[in-house]
Amino acid sequence: MIDRHSRFLPLAAALVATSAALAHAADPQLGKSPDKDVIAAMTKEEKAALVTGTGMRMPGQPPAQQPPAQQGPAVGETQRGVPGAAGTTYAIPRLGIPAVVVADGPAGLRIQPKRGSDSTKTYYCTAFPIETLLASSWDVDLVERVGRAMGNEVREYGVDVLLGPALNTHRNPLGGRNFEYYSEDPVVSGKLAAAMIRGVQSQGVGTSAKHFVANDHEWNRNTIDVKASQRALREIYLRGFEILVSEGNPWTIMSSYNKLNGTYTSESSELLQGVLRKDWGYDGLVMTDWFGGRDALAQMNAGNELLMPGNPNQRKAITDALDSGQLKEEVLDRNVAKVLELVRRSPSFLGTPHSDAPDLKAHAQVAREAAAEGMVLLKNAGVLPLASPAKLALFGNSSFNMITGGTGSGDVNEAYTVSLVEGLKAAGHASDAALADAYTRYIEEILKKQPAPTIFAPRAPIPELAVAKEEIERLAREADLAVVTLGRNSGEFRDRKREDDFELSAAENTLLRDVASAFHAQKKKLVVVLNIGGVIETTSWRDVPDAILLAWQPGQEAGHAIADVLTGRVAVSGKLATSFPVKWEDVPSSANFPGVVLEGPDPNATGFRAGQARAAEIKYEDDIWVGYRHYATKGVKTAYPFGYGLSYTTFQYSDLKLGAKEFQKQLTATVKVTNTGKSAGREVVQLYLSAPGKAMPKPALELRAFAKTKLLKPGESQALSFTLTPRDLVSFDGASSSWVAEAGTYAVKVGASSEDIRQNASFTKAQDEKVATVSTSVGP
Ligand code: BGC
Repeated sequence: MIDRHSRFLPLAAALVATSAALAHAADPQLGKSPDKDVIAAMTKEEKAALVTGTGMRMPGQPPAQQPPAQQGPAVGETQRGVPGAAGTTYAIPRLGIPAVVVADGPAGLRIQPKRGSDSTKTYYCTAFPIETLLASSWDVDLVERVGRAMGNEVREYGVDVLLGPALNTHRNPLGGRNFEYYSEDPVVSGKLAAAMIRGVQSQGVGTSAKHFVANDHEWNRNTIDVKASQRALREIYLRGFEILVSEGNPWTIMSSYNKLNGTYTSESSELLQGVLRKDWGYDGLVMTDWFGGRDALAQMNAGNELLMPGNPNQRKAITDALDSGQLKEEVLDRNVAKVLELVRRSPSFLGTPHSDAPDLKAHAQVAREAAAEGMVLLKNAGVLPLASPAKLALFGNSSFNMITGGTGSGDVNEAYTVSLVEGLKAAGHASDAALADAYTRYIEEILKKQPAPTIFAPRAPIPELAVAKEEIERLAREADLAVVTLGRNSGEFRDRKREDDFELSAAENTLLRDVASAFHAQKKKLVVVLNIGGVIETTSWRDVPDAILLAWQPGQEAGHAIADVLTGRVAVSGKLATSFPVKWEDVPSSANFPGVVLEGPDPNATGFRAGQARAAEIKYEDDIWVGYRHYATKGVKTAYPFGYGLSYTTFQYSDLKLGAKEFQKQLTATVKVTNTGKSAGREVVQLYLSAPGKAMPKPALELRAFAKTKLLKPGESQALSFTLTPRDLVSFDGASSSWVAEAGTYAVKVGASSEDIRQNASFTKAQDEKVATVSTSVGP
């Protein structure tokens, strides 16, 4: 296994020589001749090259050497020249096959913003809000719009496939990459990921939905074996992917790093052939995650058609296996055919021109609107929206140094970040200059001392500035209102921790309490803004401030978008797509998080494998009882439940009507929502079902559909309608390998959150029904 520090190696000389010898005018050309003729004209080295990427350039590595075009497969990265892209496939010029360029994802395109010595031309991309924020908007059209803007940057910068969206599950708040994922619920994740895919792909470029599947935490991610029941996999972890395949149809899917019930996902034909292709009818391409899995032969056989970023050992393993008969030529050809299908639809093949100049201004506007739509008002004791104009005292490092998104491959190279102080100023609110100055200087000093961040070693958190009590008292006298912003960052390679991360640090607690007591003594209020990428503990301190706005990591327009919501320019309408527990121990997966080491690290391991256990295991004993499925069923109190979010107005739900009393082929439900308050607003309406639960235990309620109203004026109503299909009634029955809808009475619960059901109805189902059967078992 190659490690991250030897990611780029030139293609074997033999390949070039063989290819060159074979080149002649009559070679079939991709797109002009049938794919099968193109494949038939390939050498085995060319085939092996096509199913493995060209390697990955790493800091300190020499640039790839480009063989002369007529000599065969060319080194994609240099040929296509998109520095900072995550990888490319091989070009085979003699057969008319160009390289395909892939780049991260998922909160915006990730490429290098500057190239070579030319500082006049830049290649910045828009940092859109993180997926967790987008999920809190519950707005399918909005997410599709974000996808269109993101996809436009992919196309205009000459990239073929965006490595996103990501939709692993918010199984535990400490998952380091939760910010890259949508929700704890597969319907929200699947529907929004599908919208993102439709948006991106409308621009003529591809997506890679990742990480398939159960890479829900970072700890020992390359060796961990996830032990999960088939029911949990089908209902929770696979379900979002199933929805996005049918509603989004991504060009590609990325297999995950982990093992699943004993087999690497990239080496599992049960998963990649059985579940994905046979059961779901997926006909796109599967690529590995970068350096994922161990055994190229097993990956080829499993139908993991493209190994990324690709290395010579894999190519040798493939050609050796062909020679020895362990790999059948038709299996390799099948995989090559899939890569060719991808190439044929790519802008690189179609010769789509790209400007290197997307409309970043227009996309910034999309990012700003999306960010404001996904913020969640957790608490508001009569303070928001802000009376204008106010003089503010802004506390907290993050007010001045906002966290736009998480770290690792999901980090975007944006041109700028609007801080909260700038956003509020643009909205007409002054903030105390001396305090702002103290924060700015403090942050600059700390940043100066820190080593330059890398993808593997992001910036360390900046300890909260200790503001003297006398200074806070001065501010409480002079300012109208205090805002304390608390920030959190995390990302690839490591999970979060409880101390000073899930929980507030001592310095944050002190700041919060000192500011609250000084401002409250002056009869003035305090607003907390949470600039975070994942769930934190709130119960121990939420009584202290007067309002709490969960701004998530809102992308580059952070300060403007937060100001939009604080001032009421945008009617706050986000709701949680992930529960906030009272305490970490309440999270159902906490009993076995992050797992156990079965065999310690290899002392000789280098690169990204250094320090990783040779074998580790995590048991998903929480089974299907993830998030609200657990809290609602077991009656465990949450700090803020799934689906929760306040508004500046109020809504009344009425007239829930079902299309029939008995479920036949489908059933519609309609409900009326009326704005009963004094300002305009939008409401996220959630439809949950409670199934009879005779044959197997069922959650007290499960989200089956959702919708968001338009902006309703005071007094205005909107009727929303939902269509339930048999798939909305089912649970997975392992014994019969099928999705079963039970006979009995189903309760329909339409609510403003999982704990705030406003309208009830019920329907019956006369008979048990096997709605679908599956061909493969992926778990016990
Ligand atoms: C990440 C993927 C990413 C890939 C390419 C991997 O480390 O897990 O999400 O797409 O790198 O950068």
